[in-house]
Amino acid sequence: AEVRGRQVEPFSIVRQEVEIVSERLRHSVSTGIPALKTAAEYFFRHGMEGKRLRPSLVLLMSSALSPAVPPPEYLQVDLRPAAEHAPELRRRQQRIAEIAELIHVASLLHDDVIDDAETRRGVVSLNNVMGNKTAILAGDFLLARASVSLAALRNSETVVLMSQVLEHLVSGEIMQMTATSEQLLDLDHYLAKTYCKTASLMANSSRSIAVLAGVPPEHVCGAVCGSGDVVCDMAWSYGRHLGLAFQVVDDLLDLTGSSSVLGKPALNDLRSGLATAPVLFAAQEEPELRPLILRRFKQEGDVALAMTLIQRTQGLRRAEELAAHHAKIAADMIRCLPVAQSDHAEIAREALIQITHKVLTRKK
Ligand code: FPP
Ligand code: MG
Ligand code: MG
Repeated sequence: AEVRGRQVEPFSIVRQEVEIVSERLRHSVSTGIPALKTAAEYFFRHGMEGKRLRPSLVLLMSSALSPAVPPPEYLQVDLRPAAEHAPELRRRQQRIAEIAELIHVASLLHDDVIDDAETRRGVVSLNNVMGNKTAILAGDFLLARASVSLAALRNSETVVLMSQVLEHLVSGEIMQMTATSEQLLDLDHYLAKTYCKTASLMANSSRSIAVLAGVPPEHVCGAVCGSGDVVCDMAWSYGRHLGLAFQVVDDLLDLTGSSSVLGKPALNDLRSGLATAPVLFAAQEEPELRPLILRRFKQEGDVALAMTLIQRTQGLRRAEELAAHHAKIAADMIRCLPVAQSDHAEIAREALIQITHKVLTRKK
């Protein structure tokens, strides 16, 4: 994206506002119960917040769809955006950014229990520090706080969308756990699971931004408004395809990245029995991979053998093409939006398109 003739990093446009969101999150997960406070705050502490991809996307989508000329602070990369002075719509959309991050972190806490993970974001996982029971309850607590924030928006359509995300996260996890032999080899099953586990949160929080943009803040009657709106569909579709691209790249990094860069063990997917997109493509060319996939790489030497077999095929390259395909559809969604209402919206759209390129070249 370009600001006053200067090329800027796409996330930098909303970085200061993401800081404000992070600060609010630190407050919103606070509680008087010491052990719960320690657990709930674990991934919201300074320096432990991760990439904050979801809040960034949500805020950029908010700008991309902004109906009118925003206050100048949002245009200026170098100056503070005064959150207290954010107009009402923007404040409501910032709540979606917070809710999306709360749901994301809650799902990670639960996921690390399910996966018996030892590390997360380059540090000891919460289950490893405080035990499974506390980690599960901390996740539940974050979801409870997310529910309160969501209810406070008094917009029932966003409640439906964000609640569907919770259903999808759980469904995706169960789909992964209980896949039949046929499903384990099936790319469509993989994509359906991946929408549930990764893309639904991006798609539906992005759609929630569009829904709020279409409803004036005073119109909070609880009616489900604007559900057929094409802009809502495009915002959803951007999140869906970006999420799919993001996850396929994640799958590639698991096979090609190093654990020190990733902040989690490499080859984790194979070791935990998961055949991801590159592996499924490889298996189409190399039938010897199929029995390994079906026994979830559990026999001695399976992981190493799988890597050797994958490298004989175009699996990695075909997965790269799949990621690029979804990234392109995401970018096209932004290009096809109705004409931007301000320079500010135009800059944010460029940033959202740039992110579809960046997602393909990320290293962690
Ligand atoms: C990470 O996957 C996990 C998810 C994206 C979602 C996990 C969902 C649940 C545990 C269901 C419960 C949901 C809620 C909202 C509490 P991964 O294990 O493939 O990746 P990793 O390498 O990040 O661990
Ligand atoms: Mg995991
Ligand atoms: Mg998992």
